[in-house]
Amino acid sequence: MKIDILTLIPGVFQNVFNESVLGSALEKQILEIGFHSIRDFGEGRHRVVDDTAFGGGPGMVLKPGPLIQAIRALRENGEVAPVIGLTPQGVKLSQKLLKELSHKPRLMLVCGRYEGFDERIRREFDLEVSIGDYVLSGGEIAAMVFVDSMARLIPGTIGDQASVEQDSFFNGPLDHPQYTRPAVWESLPVPQVLSEGNHESINLWRKARSLKKTAVRRPDLFCRLNLDGKEKNLLQTCFAD
Ligand code: ADE
Repeated sequence: MKIDILTLIPGVFQNVFNESVLGSALEKQILEIGFHSIRDFGEGRHRVVDDTAFGGGPGMVLKPGPLIQAIRALRENGEVAPVIGLTPQGVKLSQKLLKELSHKPRLMLVCGRYEGFDERIRREFDLEVSIGDYVLSGGEIAAMVFVDSMARLIPGTIGDQASVEQDSFFNGPLDHPQYTRPAVWESLPVPQVLSEGNHESINLWRKARSLKKTAVRRPDLFCRLNLDGKEKNLLQTCFAD
């Protein structure tokens, strides 16, 4: 997958993207990211990209000309890519949306700054995405969240794809609890079933804990799970202990 990011501050991405899972996806060329500065399309000697709002109000608004030119220049260059504007007014980012978009060969992310985009820029977006109901100072952190969670879904990024499929939200419920050595820490033991080596029992225990955690912490998600009879029984046993 190729992701083009349009931003006023391309430099902020380097450290985050060069580390860990993302860094290795880039190194393996499973993922390619192009950084593009909106300022390269700015107007005049000072490469102006923003202006005050018509009708007054605080802050600066991104002008349509430079940003639309930047989007169109990228569009003409390479495969068709949905253009995704990162704004607090977009659809909420979810594992489902990421999964749908993970099949695209190319995506374009547009980061806003200042008080927002001139409304006419929105006609260039195929989709607007928000990472939550709060306002960031710009779309860059949202783009980092988007790219990081997307990279995990591209086959080959994570060595063990089964671990991605067990992640919270992938199939609906939250992830089950995890433990590692030592077997006892400050008098707290690891649940016995996990060290007994019976994989069927371990899977049942994990499934039960995952359902319980979802029921307790995210009743909204839990209501949307279509539990079969076996899963309902499993959940009962784990509420009993
Ligand atoms: N830009 C500013 N706030 C944002 C948010 N919550 N999500 C995505 N982009 C944003």
